[in-house]
Amino acid sequence: MSIRRVAPAAAALLTLLAQPAAGQRPLGYLHGEGPKAWPVVQLTLGLLAIACVVVIVTSALVVVGIWRRRVTDITDIRSVPPTRAGGGLRWIAIGLGISGVALLGSLIWTVVVLAAVNGPSRPTRLTIEVTGQQWWWKARYLDDDPSQQFITAGEIHIPVGEPVRVRLIGGDVIHSFWVPALAGKMETIPGQINETWIEAGQPGIYRGQCSEYCGVQHAHMGFLVVADPAEKFAAWRAAQLRPAQVAVPQQTGATLFVYHCGACHTVRGTGAGGTVAPDLTHLMSRGILAGDVVANTIGNLAGWIANPQGVKPGTRMPAQDLSGPELQRVVGFLQTLK
Ligand code: CUA
Repeated sequence: MSIRRVAPAAAALLTLLAQPAAGQRPLGYLHGEGPKAWPVVQLTLGLLAIACVVVIVTSALVVVGIWRRRVTDITDIRSVPPTRAGGGLRWIAIGLGISGVALLGSLIWTVVVLAAVNGPSRPTRLTIEVTGQQWWWKARYLDDDPSQQFITAGEIHIPVGEPVRVRLIGGDVIHSFWVPALAGKMETIPGQINETWIEAGQPGIYRGQCSEYCGVQHAHMGFLVVADPAEKFAAWRAAQLRPAQVAVPQQTGATLFVYHCGACHTVRGTGAGGTVAPDLTHLMSRGILAGDVVANTIGNLAGWIANPQGVKPGTRMPAQDLSGPELQRVVGFLQTLK
């Protein structure tokens, strides 16, 4: 292949590697953004450095051994002595000593990090119950006062700089909750409640991903953790608690929605009260749809409702028998769910 043909291909590959697809946020685990992630990232990089040193030193010693071989003519294998007097053993002792120190150091460091990230250093004020479902994430914000609880999906908002407890529920099969920039993985197992915690040191949007194979759309079981400053989080929470207000022009769309979608989805304030699919009461406050398969735009939303299997083959959401005008009315109603 000529260089003229290779160069554009290489350039395209580099571009692909350098930039995530539009709207996608990379799942970087070598860059922590909170007190739970920092010690783990340091440990990861430290162990990586030790491993690199081991490979370099071992390779160098092998090269030196080859270079200094004492038998130059090995055309006759019998000229190579099976054993050689002197030397050898001392190197093995030195090697074992250095490996022992490195391994013991790594073990102590790992145990210290595990203890440090096991629980938050301060009491938590917020607990979110997160349920893994094929193939989306439900988040219930718990509160002692039931009127202050609400459910959302796909996007988990947390206050920045504050530890948040996450109770993990397995909704159907085993999934794994993973927000690489904030915390390590924790499984969601049916019939069992697992607990973990997350804390974001910086405001921002952190991508999460199911990390346990859970079926055909496992790779499309993403979610976002949005870390907001305290006031912004409080405002978001207050807004999420409000039921939907259906304006008069949207009544037809709302009725169609309740009829076609209400057995699976909830929109508080309407007759739609299904619990097997995401709560859509504040759908338009979210930036993603269907486990972060597509961005929440009006076109993607209409396409998703019209042909869910085309967007996410295998999804539990069935296509609805809606005419064009009906689809428009349903989408028009959904657009008002801010
Ligand atoms: Cu859920 Cu993989």
